[in-house]
Amino acid sequence: MTTLSQIIAGNWKMNLTLSQGLDFVDVLLAALSEKKISRKLLLAPNFTLLAPLAVACRDSVIELAAQNCSDHESGAFTGETSVSMLKDAGAAYVIVGHSERRHIFGESNALLAAKLGAVVGAGLRPIFCVGETLEQRQQGVADEVVTRQLTESLADFSGSRLIVAYEPVWAIGTGETATPEDARLMHAEIRRFLRTRFTWGDEVPILYGGSAKPGNAAELLAQPEVNGLLVGGAALNPESFLEIAGV
Ligand code: PGA
Repeated sequence: MTTLSQIIAGNWKMNLTLSQGLDFVDVLLAALSEKKISRKLLLAPNFTLLAPLAVACRDSVIELAAQNCSDHESGAFTGETSVSMLKDAGAAYVIVGHSERRHIFGESNALLAAKLGAVVGAGLRPIFCVGETLEQRQQGVADEVVTRQLTESLADFSGSRLIVAYEPVWAIGTGETATPEDARLMHAEIRRFLRTRFTWGDEVPILYGGSAKPGNAAELLAQPEVNGLLVGGAALNPESFLEIAGV
């Protein structure tokens, strides 16, 4: 079992306007001024909110993640956002390969490998998401699918500042959570892969994501190799985010 400091990351997806985002941060900062926290807190707002939230979170423990990035550095890619732009706007982390990017926008393991390279190249820290669909789980190939996602996208990965998020697709936004046992088993499998593949495999935080909420967070966080949570729906409300984080 690793002793990494746990990370609670809120993925706002395509939600919250600027004023809502700033109000959210105000509530967090007020709570954090009264209670210290040993866990790392990350917020992943929409791109348009990164720069103003970076100002609001300056000198606080809250760090920012982007939800996606381009694999290109610059050029004629209308509508895309490069890692240097995200860094400029105040992001320190980038979520790469969220299941919505894979399944709605058709992002492949090869494209995600390129995005991981871009993120690391800019000195940012990737949160690389993996996870199987319900059909794949029912067919008994969940481990195989996740291992393939890791193998294909991390083949050329260099640098040691990786974070992995295990997010079973069937648990995302469905209210359906993996049991602590499901999470424990898959996290152990991911840890084995990381240890075999990288000398620093023990240092990679592995987050769980998929309908994490105040009612199940503590139990999920108590599992070996669950080094934090990537939270969607329950991170849209500052009180529930704080409860999940244990503040
Ligand atoms: P959820 O989303 O917590 O709403 O299931 C998690 C995620 O997609 O990162």
